[in-house]
Amino acid sequence: MTKSLIVNLDKLQESDIILEDQKELSQGQVRLQIERFAMTANNITYAVIGKQLKYWDFFPTKDDHGKIPVWGLASVSQSKQPDLAVGDRFYGYYPMSTELIVSPGKVSPFGFTDMANHRQHLAPIYNNYTKMTKEFNPMDNHLCIFRPLYTTSFLNYDFLKRSDFYNAKQVILTSASSKTALGIAQLLMTNKDQHNIEVIGLTSDKNKGFVTDTKYYDTVLGYGDINQIEKISSVTVDLSGNTTTLVNISEHLGDELAFISLIGLTDYSKTDRSVVLPNSKFFFAPDVAVTFFKEHGRDEATKMIQTAMVNFIKDANNWINIQSIGSLEKLDPLYKEMLMGKVDPAVGHIVTL
Ligand SMILES: NC(=O)c1ccc[n+]([C@@H]2O[C@H](COP(=O)([O-])OP(=O)(O)OC[C@H]3O[C@@H](n4cnc5c(N)ncnc54)[C@H](OP(=O)(O)O)[C@@H]3O)[C@@H](O)[C@H]2O)c1
Repeated sequence: MTKSLIVNLDKLQESDIILEDQKELSQGQVRLQIERFAMTANNITYAVIGKQLKYWDFFPTKDDHGKIPVWGLASVSQSKQPDLAVGDRFYGYYPMSTELIVSPGKVSPFGFTDMANHRQHLAPIYNNYTKMTKEFNPMDNHLCIFRPLYTTSFLNYDFLKRSDFYNAKQVILTSASSKTALGIAQLLMTNKDQHNIEVIGLTSDKNKGFVTDTKYYDTVLGYGDINQIEKISSVTVDLSGNTTTLVNISEHLGDELAFISLIGLTDYSKTDRSVVLPNSKFFFAPDVAVTFFKEHGRDEATKMIQTAMVNFIKDANNWINIQSIGSLEKLDPLYKEMLMGKVDPAVGHIVTL
């Protein structure tokens, strides 16, 4: 049987563990047994905007329900694809399930793309599976947590840098404790000599100490302290989706706010789509990645991101505490807590199956 955690598309707080009969493989298909995956606010966002951005289309299940996508590792347990053998192990996009059946296209030494019909209208970055060593490597958990998030951090930093930071003198990041924000802030700090940008982190009062201790921000403020932000030319990078916070920043900075990069929705219940924020633009990493990879070539682009990510992970080991939970049943309460915002930013959650 295949076990999955599914959620009600209209009431995300309603989740269930279901058992489905294992499907037979067709010629060319491969069964991947899911070994582990990471769980962060990013996965909650996939669910929150699942209908709008088609995240439910990756791993369809029964009507009105969905399997939330996660980033993780899985091994081939059965193969009807001559170039893939039992035991081959892949990093990629999986459902919250014990297994996934894929239809690999051309298999290279680096991996394959799932060519299943129902995935072809979705961003290519989600359909690629990267070959890994067969044995567990201690870095595997870091990879599950950070690779999707840090790739976004890197691409957003690169985008801002190419735009000359809109001539701003400071970058303000909301949900400064999120791993994606921390990645961007660390890049701004590490490269401060190049562009001399002040890095301001806005976070919940309870997370101020944690964010300050990472040392990736020049100044850390609570959401109630926006009036303490210096009125100089600024860019906001928004991970929270909290419209009130964004309006408060806009009103405080007035014409000094040159641009808002809208990346995330950690505080999704406070998003008011009817409010139009001037000078703002949605940043969707999978689309930006396509351009970045075309421009630099696949190998060079991968190398650039990986080199920076290894550097970030070395530093992140000073603040991250990786905690593993051992089943989908144990994931269920964690999912519900995360949905309600009960997230300790210092913890990196890994689900092992
Ligand atoms: N556009 C893209 O292409 C793209 C790519 C990757 C990630 N993202 C987005 O970036 C965001 C951050 O993801 P992540 O995985 O890096 O997050 P994470 O590390 O799990 O972030 C945890 C932090 O998010 C805030 N938070 C979480 N749940 C909340 C809730 N229900 N209500 C209010 N605040 C909440 C809190 O930060 P504070 O206390 O500091 O506010 C919390 O410490 C997500 O929305 C994700 O989807 C977007």
